[in-house]
This record gives sequence, C-alpha cells and structure tokens, in this order.
Amino acid sequence: MLNIKKDFPVLVNNPDLIYLDSCASSLKPKVVIDKIDEYYNKYGVNVNRGVYALSYHATEEYEQTREVVAKFINAKSKEIVFTRGASSALNLVASSYGMANITEGDEIIVSELEHHSNVMPWQMVAKAKKAVLKYVPLSSEGKITVDAFKQVLTNKTKVVALTYVSNVMGYITPIEEIIKLAHSVGAIVIVDAAQAVPHMKIDVKALDADFLAFSAHKMLGPTGLGVLYGKYKLLQNMDPIEFGGDMNDFVDLYDSHFKDAPHKFETGTPPIAEVIAFKEAIKYLEDLTFDEIHAHQEVLVKHLMSELEKIKGVKVYNKTATTGVVAFNIHDAHPHDVSTMFDEEHVCLRAGHHCAQLITRWLEVPGTLRACVYIYNTLEDVDKFIEVVKKAAEYFEEW
Ligand code: ALA
Repeated sequence: MLNIKKDFPVLVNNPDLIYLDSCASSLKPKVVIDKIDEYYNKYGVNVNRGVYALSYHATEEYEQTREVVAKFINAKSKEIVFTRGASSALNLVASSYGMANITEGDEIIVSELEHHSNVMPWQMVAKAKKAVLKYVPLSSEGKITVDAFKQVLTNKTKVVALTYVSNVMGYITPIEEIIKLAHSVGAIVIVDAAQAVPHMKIDVKALDADFLAFSAHKMLGPTGLGVLYGKYKLLQNMDPIEFGGDMNDFVDLYDSHFKDAPHKFETGTPPIAEVIAFKEAIKYLEDLTFDEIHAHQEVLVKHLMSELEKIKGVKVYNKTATTGVVAFNIHDAHPHDVSTMFDEEHVCLRAGHHCAQLITRWLEVPGTLRACVYIYNTLEDVDKFIEVVKKAAEYFEEW
C-alpha cells in the first residue's frame, strides 16, 4: 500500500481530515506547490514575448511541460493545447470543430453519463446546425456497452463525445472498441478523460482518439489548467475560438494570420505557473507508477464497498466500479442533508448531482453522496468514513 500523506501539505496541516473528494479536485503534493513557488520567486515573468533571459527561461519551463504531457499520453508536443480546464478543452472542440463540420441531419452521439461539459456544448451545436443528438442507451447497471453503442451508430454519425470514466459511476467506457466502430463510419471521437487520467495510463495513439481532454487539478496538478489533445491534422484545420495576443503571425487591417497549432489556441497570457508546475505532478504520478496506484485503489475500494454493503439503509449505485468512485445514498435522505454529518466529522465528500444531472435523473434520485478514494487515502480513512456512514444511517432511519 502507498503511504504518502506526508507529501501532501493539506493532509499534514490537517491531520484529522479524511479527504474523499478527489474526483472534484485532488490535493497537490509539495513538489507541485514548490514549483509554483519557484516560478513566482525566481523568474515570474511572461512567456513567448520577452527578449531577455528570464523570459527565455520561463518559456523553456513552460514548453518543457508540453513535452512531458505529450510523452505522458504518447502524443507529439504539437498535439497538446493548454486550456483553462477540461471543460474549456471540450468546449473548444464543439465550438470550433463542431460548428465547422456538423451540418443539418448529421448525428452526434453522447451518453447520460456525461459531465455537463461534454453534453451541453453538443446540444448547442445540434441546435445551431439542426443536427440530431443521440444517447447511447445505458445498461441496467448504468454502463456504456459496445453493443448499445452499435444501436445508435449510423452512417450519419459525425461526432461521438463520450466519457472514459464517469465522474459519478466510475465505470470505464470500452472506448477503444467504440473508437474503432466510430471510425468505420467516418465519425471522430472526443474522449472526456478528466476522471480517467488520474487513475490509469492513457495512450492516445493506441486508443486512436481524435481528441482527448483532461484537467490538471484532478491529477495532482494546479487548478485553472486543462489539456486538449488533438490529432495534429484536425487541430491544424480548426479555427481558434478566441483571438488576441500571441496566437497570430501577423495582423492586418481586415485580416490576420494565425500561428500553427497548438499556439493558435492559446491566446493571452496563459496560466504560466500552473503549466510549469504541472510537469511535477506528472512526474510524481509516474514515479508512483500506475500499477501501484491501481493496486492501492483496488484494496481501498474493495474494503469500502464491502463495509458499505453491511450497513442497513445504504444504497450503492455503482457496486462494480473500480476507479475509486462510490456513489451512494442513505435511506431516502437528501444527500445535502446527510453531507453535513460528514462535514462535522471532518470527512470531505461531494453531495448532489456532480455536474452530471443526466445520470442522477437516470438513477431517479435528486443526487447522490460521492466518496472518491485516491492515492493518499488509507484503510484507516475508509474505516473512519464507514463509522460516519453508520451514524448517519442510524440517524436518518428515525427521520
Ligand atoms: N467535475 C468535478 C466533479 O466531478 C468538479 O466533482
């Protein structure tokens, strides 16, 4: 088992804290915080603009992260666009690729497992272009299956936008087979990997994903930063959706010329410290190794699920999920009411619809409680959490 709480200042400074909200945002190891500090203390200037040594250094640190990210997911560095988060990355694809390539009658496939960021942008495109939005029917467990995907795939499918790992149910989508099928009808696939990247090794080339989006803050990195991977040909053929400084080669009175991808998508001063520090998060994860991460989580999830099962009045919605996410409710109590009991005991978890209202509606509940275990959690954390669940189950039974 991993034993790394000491690397996370929030856990060191709050020894009583049981942090089970890593799906919302992971905690950051000291190496990441130190790198942010180094940037502001030692060379905190702008990138790509200054013709002086400090700016060259900042630019070098910034661009090194692009290389580290590319290597991490087996892409080329020119295929990595830095955005403000996974949501911005997904919106960029819909607003640029979607608006330019979808026409009347085309079909776009999404699912009820999507985070709002991977369905609302396609609702906008479908409305604007009179295209048809289709949903993969979920299995009785709430999973996306290849067979169900085949039922909605047609020769009119132009775009498939699916989550790799649901942020509520934690199931892994069989995305590799889905991508093959989508490509067989000429559709492109956008993978929302925000909840996948913290937990599993991703190889965009092996998947043959056309676009893949994720956030830094869910994988030990800084907030305010996301990544859009795109096949270079697709990125190069797309127009930017934001215009301004640093994304152009020249600007004339009535026309301008954009830089090549990825720089044409990164206008304005970027989140420099965040990008620079992000590579430390990736190095930290890689040093742990995904095999260790997976083994650690497996033990925690098994223990958590088996203890929850024993408590009367607890309903778990995703019993077979393996990625550290557990969605549950206690009796018929509203998750917001129950969550205050967890807060009183210093247990952090999320309650509500988790910005994925379609799946809570599919589950026919107003929301769920969601506990997410990650690399710094321990079996003791799980036991403390279970104690609070027991208390809450007793309390709400009498309601
Ligand atoms: N998308 C994040 C979550 O699942 C914020 O909580």
